[in-house]
Formats: sequence, structure tokens, C-alpha cells
Amino acid sequence: MKTLKKIWYWIDDRSGFTEIFSPLLKHLVPPGAKWSYVFGSATLFCLVLQVVTGVALSLLYQPSSAEAYQSLQFITHRAAFGNILRGMHYFGASMMIIMVSIHMIRVYLTAAYKYPREMAWISGVLLFFLTIAMGFTGQLLRWDSNGVWSSVVAAEQLGRLPFIGKFAARLLLGGNTINGHSLSRFYSYHVFIIPAIIFLFVGYHLMLVIRNGISEPPKVGRLVDPKTYRKWYQDMLKDKGIPFWPYAAWRDVVFGVGTIITIIILAIVFGPPELTTPPNPAHLNTTPTPDWYMLSIFSLFALMPARIESYMIIIGPMLTILILLALPFVSNKGERHPIRRPWAVFGSACVIIFVFTLFLLGEKAPWSPRFEAKPLTTANIQSSDTEINAGAALFYNKGCLYCHKINNQGGIKGPDLSQIAQRLSKGDMIIRIVNGGGNMPAYGGILNKKELTEVVVFLQSRK
Ligand code: HEC
Repeated sequence: MKTLKKIWYWIDDRSGFTEIFSPLLKHLVPPGAKWSYVFGSATLFCLVLQVVTGVALSLLYQPSSAEAYQSLQFITHRAAFGNILRGMHYFGASMMIIMVSIHMIRVYLTAAYKYPREMAWISGVLLFFLTIAMGFTGQLLRWDSNGVWSSVVAAEQLGRLPFIGKFAARLLLGGNTINGHSLSRFYSYHVFIIPAIIFLFVGYHLMLVIRNGISEPPKVGRLVDPKTYRKWYQDMLKDKGIPFWPYAAWRDVVFGVGTIITIIILAIVFGPPELTTPPNPAHLNTTPTPDWYMLSIFSLFALMPARIESYMIIIGPMLTILILLALPFVSNKGERHPIRRPWAVFGSACVIIFVFTLFLLGEKAPWSPRFEAKPLTTANIQSSDTEINAGAALFYNKGCLYCHKINNQGGIKGPDLSQIAQRLSKGDMIIRIVNGGGNMPAYGGILNKKELTEVVVFLQSRK
């Protein structure tokens, strides 16, 4: 015992652990902290889990276009605990986005962004978008058709930026189109660049929390006045403050550990997202279904009239970021209690309902291709002619069926083609298929002459 103590004294004296950490743990915080304060630390718990599972995944993952898909198959189906590991990384990401969103809404509703915590809000907003960026870049690393095409859509969005668009898109993808270099790039964004920025901002964010103190629970009628607030806060702490550990921190620990356990259970029960097919440039996929947290954004753009889409795709996100960053400058004093800020509550409710509705719409996604479509049944082909049957097979193999309905099979993104021969002549059909246009991909470079003829013969038999 005595020797152990001696060893500890030596370590503590030379390393300075107690000196560094005890003020952090014992610093005074306002009394009456509530369960609503746990979401920030829960986000941090998720981040740590993401780092641990991410590093573990990187031991087996191969970031090259030739091997990425295979290495993920290996991780998922063969490696010990690989399946659970991928599941944890996936649900950890989802959980982190949920936690950071709730944290942000809580801070907004209780106006904790007001004086003197403006910088905490601003760094928080950046952290929110960095978190989304992690989810987005991670999705491409799956290197299946969904992940790859989601990134193509994003690159197209970037490409529409005025002046620097082309350059930004090239920077994102490492080329004019998605290719092997894009994967190396996204790997570096996901593993080095964005995490480095996240660590920096998380460190800063936490430092600010210590420096400016945790916001006290708001009280109706108690106003924030930048002239007197700091002094009032210090006096309040001296008077009624409680040490952070363990009196306020136990909730964070309980909730954080609960969050991690939930993630592990979800990973075991549901497993990681199924890999869709390997990316194949011949399978045009103009509207992939991204992971759920991107779904609302996708829905929004899918629902927008095509004419304003090009502007909104740029203006929308910029405006959102600007408004969020401007918030603490627009209102940095006065009432904090949500009861006295009904518009804030109303606004948050609107945003939540809006995002949620878009999400539900995105789930049904009448505008996106149905990748689960099965090859046309003989009952729907209604012919024994070999050319027609070859055309019908191509209609499925080239992805037409994802967007077009033939009788009761197929997607509804494009028009129903069950009776297309009544509307279009052979020549018009060829023109439509080769040139595409209006959400119909151009198939000119994808179908060869023979295939094109077969598809058209098939479609001409649909009367
Ligand atoms: C990503 C979804 C998608 C895919 C895949 C797709 N199409 Fe289309 N297609 C559309 C949309 C959307 C339209 C309507 C375009 C418009 O606004 O005019 C369309 C229009 C058409 C039309 C004209 C229909 C009309 O009523 O005027 C034909 C013919 C057609 N597609 C055939 C094909 C064939 C053949 C394939 C496969 C080689 C195919 N499409 C693949 C989305 C798709």
C-alpha cells in the first residue's frame, strides 16, 4: 500500500495531473443544472466513440477504389467483431448528429448563446456543420453506389457556386468526375483534415465553457446585461455554486454511458447499413438515397421547382449558416427564458416540424429511383420475341426500371412507360433516350447501338 502511494505521489508530482485536472473538476458551476444540460457532453462521448471505432476500422479498411468495397465486405462478414464495429461507427455517427442537434436547440431555446457566450455558439455552429461533413465524407468511404452517387450530387452543387464552383468541385473530388482519387481525398478529409479541425474546435469550445462558465438555468424576468453579467455570475457562483464533479457531472456521465450502451445495442441488433452494389458508372444513379441525416436536405431539393433549384442549392445553405452565425450578434442580451421568447420557441418548432416532414417525404421519395426493383416478369413482358425480351432485360439492367414503371413494376421518378408506344414514335423515343433531359439521364454514351435498338423495340411493344 505504502509503495503504491509512493508511486502515485511520484507520478502525480512529476506529471502534474492533480494540478491540471483538479481545478477543472472542482470548478464551481451554477446550481440547478438540469437533465437538459447533458446533450453537449453526450456529443463528446459519441465523438470519443467515433474516434475509437474509426481507428479500429482503419486497421482493416483499404482506401483504394480497387479494394475499398472488398475490404468492407471483409470487415462486415469475416473480421472478428467487424460487423458490430461498423454498426457502432454508423449508429455512433447518427447518435452524434442527434445529440449535437438537440444540444444546439437547447442552447437556442434557453438563449445560452447570449453574452458572454457568443463564441461558444459560433464555434458550436461550425462544429455542427463539421459533424455533418464527417457523416457525408464517411458515406463515400463505403464506396458503394449510394455513397458514390451522393457525393456526385454534392459535387454538382458545389460546381454551381459562382466563380470558384468548378475549382471547388475539383478540389472536393480530386478530378472532374468521381474516381479513385476521390476516394483517397475523402479518406483524408474524413480521417485527417476534418477530425483535426473538430479537435481544435472542441478544445476551444470546452475551454470557453470553463472560462465563461456554464450558463445558469434561465429564470423569467432575469435579464442578461453585458455591463453587469460577469460580476453577477461570479458573485452567484461564490454564493451558491457547486463543484462540477460530482454534483453536476454525474448526470453527464450517466447519460453519456447510457448513450454509448444504446449505440452498442443498436449495432448488435440492427448491424451496419447494408452495402449496396459496388459503384458502376454504367448504372446512372441521379438521385441516390443518402444516410438519413442528409435525407431532409435531399428532399428539399427534390421538391423544389427545377428553375429555382440552381439558386437555392447555393443560397439556401449559405443563408442558413449566415443566420446561425449572426444570431448572437442580433440578440446578445435581455430575456433568456423561453416563456418570454415565444417567437424563438415557435421558430424552433417550425424548423423541427419542417425538417421532420422533409425526412418523412424523403423516406417515401417518390422522386428517387427504386433500386430494389426486380427484373420484369414474363407476365409484364407479354412476349416471346427474343429482341423484345432482350430489350426488357436491358430495361432492367441499365436502370431504366428504377425510374419508370411498366405495368405494376418499377419506380415513379419518370413517367409510366406501360403504354409509351401510343405517345412516342420510334424516332422520338431514340432522341429522348440518347439525349435525356429534365431528370432523365442521357444514355447516348451508355447504350451501344444494338442495345438502344433492343430497348426501343421493347418500348415500341408497350401499347
Ligand atoms: C434517374 C431516373 C431515370 C432513369 C434511370 C431513366 N429515366 Fe427515362 N425519364 C426519366 C424522367 C424524369 C423522364 C421525364 C423527363 C422530362 O421531364 O421530360 C424520362 C423520360 C423518358 C422517356 C420519355 C417519356 C415520355 O412520356 O415522353 C422515355 C422514352 C424514357 N425516359 C426512357 C428511358 C429508358 C429506355 C431508360 C433506360 C435506358 C430510362 N428512361 C432511364 C427518368 C429516368
